[in-house]
Amino acid sequence: MAVTADEFKKALQYWASGVTVVTANSPKLGLQGMTVSAFCSVSAEPPQILVCLNEAADTGEGILQSGCFAVNVLEKAQQGISNQFAGGCSHEDRFANSPWIAGDTGAPLLAESLMSLDCTLVDRVKAGTHWIVIGEVQAVVCREGEPLLYYRGAYRQLNA
Ligand SMILES: Cc1cc2nc3c(=O)[nH]c(=O)nc-3n(C[C@H](O)[C@H](O)[C@H](O)COP(=O)(O)O)c2cc1C
Repeated sequence: MAVTADEFKKALQYWASGVTVVTANSPKLGLQGMTVSAFCSVSAEPPQILVCLNEAADTGEGILQSGCFAVNVLEKAQQGISNQFAGGCSHEDRFANSPWIAGDTGAPLLAESLMSLDCTLVDRVKAGTHWIVIGEVQAVVCREGEPLLYYRGAYRQLNA
């Protein structure tokens, strides 16, 4: 029997995750970024990761055009950044209050993130309404701090 979208979404709320902001900077489209929890390690040699982006989101096109992107894992103090990059304002405004520097690939690394992966685009595969975007990690930045978490529709923090 088919699982409805509502049943699927409710079930998936039981999956606890971190929160990332995926960013790109392409000559035509400029700075783009969106909040993404669908992030996963793929391979260590070569170092590859994936993110799943809704086909309707703008950032996918920027990644395709520039051939690069960054995955910024948010720190617990960055809940506001997560909301900002989850919509409701222009991409320009999303970056206005979020200090960033360009990584080696040119992709924007958010300055206060817990960790950033600077990636080149390896492949993208269509699955349902989403693009599975696979990247090869060219550089990493790690900072001390604690992660922002997301579980059952709410932000959480580690308590241990
Ligand atoms: C905590 C959280 C996690 C999210 N995870 C994803 C995700 O994994 N993939 C996705 O396509 N959208 C995800 N979204 C929704 C996008 O961030 C949102 O639709 C964003 O506005 C898309 O960018 P756009 O405004 O350029 O379309 C998430 C939103 C939140 C608040």
